[in-house]
Amino acid sequence: KGTANQKDFLHINDFDKATILNILDRAREVKELLKSGERTYLPFKGKTMAMIFAKPSMRTRVSFETGFYLLGGHAIYLGPNDIQMGKREETRDVARVLSRYNDIIMARVFAHQDILDLAKYATVPVINGLTDYNHPCQIMADALTMIEHVGQLEGTKVVYVGDGNNIVHSWLLLAAVIPFHFVCACPKGFEPDQETVEKARQAGVSKIDITNDPKEAVRDADVVYADVWASMGQKEEAAHRHQVFQGFQVDEQLMKLAGKKAYFMHCLPAERGVEVTDGVIEAPNSIVFPQAENRMHAQNAIMLHVLGL
Ligand code: CP
Ligand code: NVA
Repeated sequence: KGTANQKDFLHINDFDKATILNILDRAREVKELLKSGERTYLPFKGKTMAMIFAKPSMRTRVSFETGFYLLGGHAIYLGPNDIQMGKREETRDVARVLSRYNDIIMARVFAHQDILDLAKYATVPVINGLTDYNHPCQIMADALTMIEHVGQLEGTKVVYVGDGNNIVHSWLLLAAVIPFHFVCACPKGFEPDQETVEKARQAGVSKIDITNDPKEAVRDADVVYADVWASMGQKEEAAHRHQVFQGFQVDEQLMKLAGKKAYFMHCLPAERGVEVTDGVIEAPNSIVFPQAENRMHAQNAIMLHVLGL
């Protein structure tokens, strides 16, 4: 923890501020290169990456696979039925076998312990592509998007409205490293993990507020951020959550309270008419698509970093 020389990319706060800012700078550099049409920068030439998905994905799968390919590498998609990690084969065996074929393992899993086990037994870098606990690649992409659109991340106010989930935990862990004001407005009983909130507060870097009042929370926000109310693995709770989360929809009125400068962000996929209205997601200040694009650029920089390139 807290070192710049981690083998893996599992939690944002495993890295110091300088390292996180370096990765974000690198993301912008390589993004510019790729957007210019340049295709001769091939740092991943001759390298392969195994991508384990225990859950569905569009952005994570396509952005990792495309990004790794554009920089010269070859990525292998292993879907929920392919290796059935922990079921067909123990995680520690998967980790050691894949390490013998691949230069990187990227994984999206249910239990966070699975990614910790993978990283423990893998001899190559493991990148966290979302667990029930966190989603660090998403929040790195979000940080990059804020730097591009708001102009900076430091000193801004980010207000997340909805479920205190994996996305929130990664925002909190980013706030433990980079100073900004993070507010999570969620229904009672759906607050983020208390230990993670404490970790972010104890880091003494950022202002952290957890509240049950979205209207008050969004005032003066630079970014209002939403995610689904029922995450992958919770879809059977969707109807119940729909009831409990009334008043937490990001709609035009809430955006109005946030003020003119507020951007709208969402990690996607979005359920329009549930956690966010169609109007908010389609409004000019919604930056959800540049945000989605930045998954690829942020992750390219993360992969360069873990490979020491
Ligand atoms: N935001 C995100 O991780 O999207 P996918 O689930 O489509 O990968
Ligand atoms: N909280 C959501 C994020 C999806 C990218 C989930 O875990 O399903």
